[in-house]
Amino acid sequence: MVNVNNYAIILAAGKGTRMKSHLYKVLHPVLGKPMISHVVDTLNKVDVKRKIVVVAKDAFAVKELLQDQVEFVVQEEQLGTGHAVRMAEPLLEKETGNTIVLYGDTPLITSETINSILNHHIQNHADITMLTTHLDNPTGYGRIVRDNQGEILRIVEEKDASPEEKQITEVNTGTYCFDNRKLFQALKQLKNNNNQKEYYLTDVIEIIKNAGGKVTSYQTLDSEETFGINDRIALEQATQILKRRVNKELMKNGVTIIDAENTYISVDTIINPDTVIYPGTVMFGKNVIGENCVIGPNTQLENVTVGSNVKIISSLITDSVIGDNTTVGPFAHLRNHTVTGANCRIGNFVEMKNTVFGDNSKASHLSYLGDATVGTNVNMGCGTITVNYDGKKKHKTVIKDNAFVGCNSNLVAPITVGEGAYVAAGSTITADVPDDALAIARSYQVNKPEYAKKYRK
Ligand code: UD1
Ligand code: CA
Repeated sequence: MVNVNNYAIILAAGKGTRMKSHLYKVLHPVLGKPMISHVVDTLNKVDVKRKIVVVAKDAFAVKELLQDQVEFVVQEEQLGTGHAVRMAEPLLEKETGNTIVLYGDTPLITSETINSILNHHIQNHADITMLTTHLDNPTGYGRIVRDNQGEILRIVEEKDASPEEKQITEVNTGTYCFDNRKLFQALKQLKNNNNQKEYYLTDVIEIIKNAGGKVTSYQTLDSEETFGINDRIALEQATQILKRRVNKELMKNGVTIIDAENTYISVDTIINPDTVIYPGTVMFGKNVIGENCVIGPNTQLENVTVGSNVKIISSLITDSVIGDNTTVGPFAHLRNHTVTGANCRIGNFVEMKNTVFGDNSKASHLSYLGDATVGTNVNMGCGTITVNYDGKKKHKTVIKDNAFVGCNSNLVAPITVGEGAYVAAGSTITADVPDDALAIARSYQVNKPEYAKKYRK
């Protein structure tokens, strides 16, 4: 392949009025990840030298999200897709090479397809290569108008199309590859004499064609890839399409998914073979799951690394790590950089926050461990809590190896329970417990004989 530079422009300045949202359109998530991040991550797998995102002037959140990954240009007023591309003129006009234009509201496009368009473009020495597809229902999309020889003449937008043109089922997907110089020359000639009074990028095709340029198309059979999101109904449909794609890929790679309809796994999740996913499982963000695990039913993981042979049932885990052979749940909540070792047991109604929990340790029932460091082979009795917050500051609890903390104990932090130490059930511990000691911190019991019987009378 000839050594030529590729550039990319992503359009994301549209108002997105059809979303009826305060959230910037391209930030709406699909399977937990903003639409625009899908497009940028896909482009990261393609050989492009510069990525430029066109945003509106109030797109602070988009800039924050993508700040280190792309360059930005601002389109002050949304005067159309052609006008939007032109905003990249100061950055790209003088470059030679190929420029891929993508729409930020089309997140299902794959890097394989983008590479195919690029190859097609280069092999055909084209000035424009458009990605087109056939849709059973082309409503809303720009239609590809061809002559008798099948050559592309122009694109007509739905709102400008005649009744005959509306019958055309081949549509513009909004993904193109242009000769960079010719693109910016043609953009200067755009007019907005159409029904929407917009400068359409799609009119560039006719301009380049009339100047003797070569316009080709690359057709994708997978029309789902080119799905554009304009409203919340389309947002739901895109989520379903992507969900099926991700789940299929996982199943091909040896993961059992009991009910793929009701399992939502992000594109950035890795799951190893022989793991079984039960219904109602949602994994968003970046997760890595080992082999032979059982996840779900009704479990949500976000940015979690899970070892092998782990069971997680009906639980919520975020930003945490779970060691091999550990079981979690039902109804556990682990969050904020909790790290559990191997062979642990974290049972029902246990919450852990920012806690390190050593190998072979157990917290089987009804506990809260916050800002704690728990050693190996520790038994946290039912109902044990770390009292980590004094109303102003959070304090640390340290429980050393082989300690045994009796049921319903309060460990008032900052505090250390020594190695091999015992805490008697029902204690409120306010001073450090030395290694191998027994701490009892509760009042002594008094039995009053026959008292209850008299009282009843
Ligand atoms: C566009 C295409 C249409 C195609 C469809 C595919 C044009 C004129 N029409 O229509 O042929 O079938 O996409 O999904 O290009 N944007 C800006 N600035 C603007 C206007 C739009 O950045 O001034 C951005 C939007 O944020 C969006 C993209 O461009 O990401 C497309 O704009 P949109 O208004 O959604 O165009 P469609 O009507 O979907
Ligand atoms: Ca659109």
